[in-house]
Amino acid sequence: MRPMERGSICKSLAFSAAAGWLLCLDGAACSQGTGGPSRVATEAAPAVSAAALAQARTFYDARCAECHGAQGGGDGEKSASLRPLPQRLSDRMWQANVSNARIARVLVQGGPAAGKSPTMPAFAELAAQPELRAALVALIRSFKTP
Ligand code: HEC
Repeated sequence: MRPMERGSICKSLAFSAAAGWLLCLDGAACSQGTGGPSRVATEAAPAVSAAALAQARTFYDARCAECHGAQGGGDGEKSASLRPLPQRLSDRMWQANVSNARIARVLVQGGPAAGKSPTMPAFAELAAQPELRAALVALIRSFKTP
């Protein structure tokens, strides 16, 4: 292949990678497709039963809300004394940049599993409770501010 041909193939590959990324940001190609051009795509919540979701709510209120706040605003009663501050789970930019798999991993293994602070504790018991774990991820997705 002559150098010029290689160059143009490289360029078109780079172009399609960039176009794919823009489509993801647009929300139409990678998410539910409800977002307009200014919306940022967020991975859809895992599908869980209403019963599992209710169980997740109870677990969250007992184990997470004191730091992350009842609606994930990062404003639980313990939050002011923590450094780093608890993640604001409602934050739409954070939501757009985190995968369901990463949330699930952090829940089981704690903050260090995603390069975050150990102030985010591990809930190792969730390793053996996939339905509750998925429901917690779904609950966290429901906190996202529009
Ligand atoms: C003792 C306070 C505390 C408790 C309890 C706690 N967290 Fe956290 N959590 C944190 C802090 C602090 C961070 C931010 C760590 C950082 O930025 O390095 C965090 C981060 C997170 C993140 C973001 C991880 C990422 O990869 O960006 C998620 C998701 C999360 N917590 C969910 C939960 C859930 C769900 C529970 C309950 C099962 C919970 N946390 C309990 C303090 C807490």
